[in-house]
Amino acid sequence: MRHCSESGWNSGPMVPRPTGSLAPMSTIAVGSDHGGFALKGRLADELRGLGYEVIDLGTHSDDRVDYPDFGAAVGRAVAGGEAELGVCVCGSGIGIAMAANKVPGVRAATVHDATSARLAREHNDANVICLGERLLESEVASEAVRAWLGAEFEGGRHVGRLAKLAELDGSGS
Ligand code: RB5
Repeated sequence: MRHCSESGWNSGPMVPRPTGSLAPMSTIAVGSDHGGFALKGRLADELRGLGYEVIDLGTHSDDRVDYPDFGAAVGRAVAGGEAELGVCVCGSGIGIAMAANKVPGVRAATVHDATSARLAREHNDANVICLGERLLESEVASEAVRAWLGAEFEGGRHVGRLAKLAELDGSGS
């Protein structure tokens, strides 16, 4: 059985470890625009089912809204320590990631499957992942979230790169 810690860019089906780097009962902020509203709700339910506390920062209907408002809300919750991690959803997963990444300290990654989600944690220590409801099958999105939660930051050569990212947004010490 393969586990997420195995190295490689395409190491096959991901099976999240029983305990990842983020223990269940941690808090995860979720947010979406109207394009990601349905998937955001499903993922929030799944996260609660896995034992996480979920803060739903909206949107709360499929009425048309602007993704920057919700990406920023999730980013601020994570950067401010209200939540350890964030999950964002819009139509493509792109715009809401751009918004979240404007918040200093946020490392938001648009992911499209379990492999990209795992790498976002192992290499980039992404504290927010972003998914596109209009581009991903629901189960693929769920697998991506579970792979991200089950993975751990590898440290090592990646530490200095994260420090450079922090310098860019002024969040470094
Ligand atoms: C909304 O129609 C759509 O543009 C938005 O959800 C997202 O895909 C933007 O990046």
